Amino acid sequence: MEDKVRIENVTKEYSTGSKVVKAVNNISLNIAEGEFIIILGPSGSGKTTLLNLISALTPPTNGRIFIRDREITALSDKKATRFRAEHIGLVFQFFNLLPTLTALENVEIGVALKIKNPDDLRKRALQYLKLVGLEGMEDKFPDQLSGGEQQRVSVARALAMEPDLLIADEPTGNLDAETGEEIWELLRELNERTGTTILAVTHWAEAATYANRTVHLRSGKIEKIMRKVAK
Ligand SMILES: Nc1ncnc2c1ncn2[C@@H]1O[C@H](COP(=O)(O)OP(=O)(O)OP(=O)(O)O)[C@@H](O)[C@H]1O
Ligand SMILES: [Mg+2]
Repeated sequence: MEDKVRIENVTKEYSTGSKVVKAVNNISLNIAEGEFIIILGPSGSGKTTLLNLISALTPPTNGRIFIRDREITALSDKKATRFRAEHIGLVFQFFNLLPTLTALENVEIGVALKIKNPDDLRKRALQYLKLVGLEGMEDKFPDQLSGGEQQRVSVARALAMEPDLLIADEPTGNLDAETGEEIWELLRELNERTGTTILAVTHWAEAATYANRTVHLRSGKIEKIMRKVAK
């Protein structure tokens, strides 16, 4: 299958005072269209840095990253922002929903750049809220929803734009274990049903059971890659 993401010899260094930290140290990785990849690793191993590089939030010190055939590491800041808004769905640990907007409106703003017609926009947002299991909760505000429900809204917001890539940094880091498992199960289901390529970072080793491949990071390097064995 065609590769959706190509990471070629990427290094990211940070200097603090006289010390240089290689947050990501010469990583190469290809992600196939439709894959669900989980990145596991201890605190400080470079997980967030790698996601920030892939979502063009930060430029690498060395190396190149391609999403489809677009070299995102060659984009200006302005073009990178636009690229992210149009092609990458982001899910965060703390949901990042706007508190004054309803669930439906929060999903709509995720797609507003792509769909201008208000009826079509509403239709699209409703479709994705239903897909994440929130039919009937469209008019609730974030503070009227549980943590798990809020994260479902943010997954719907990220997916409704039908991105090339869904990127999630510790999406269950702020949820209890049971709710966390429900979110991993949801991501697995959405990956199967929509074919969206997903890249998610977590500390929780058992999340690996949901993904096609698990990339283990240590000190900015890939320690090993595990492929899920078919049950
Ligand atoms: N903006 C920055 N400036 C300086 N150093 C940084 C910066 N961002 C990250 N680092 C350093 O790079 C390394 C990797 O950090 P990163 O945030 O990618 O780790 P992580 O695996 O996401 O950790 P956690 O599980 O705690 O979120 C760490 O040593 C960190 O201190
Ligand atoms: Mg992190």
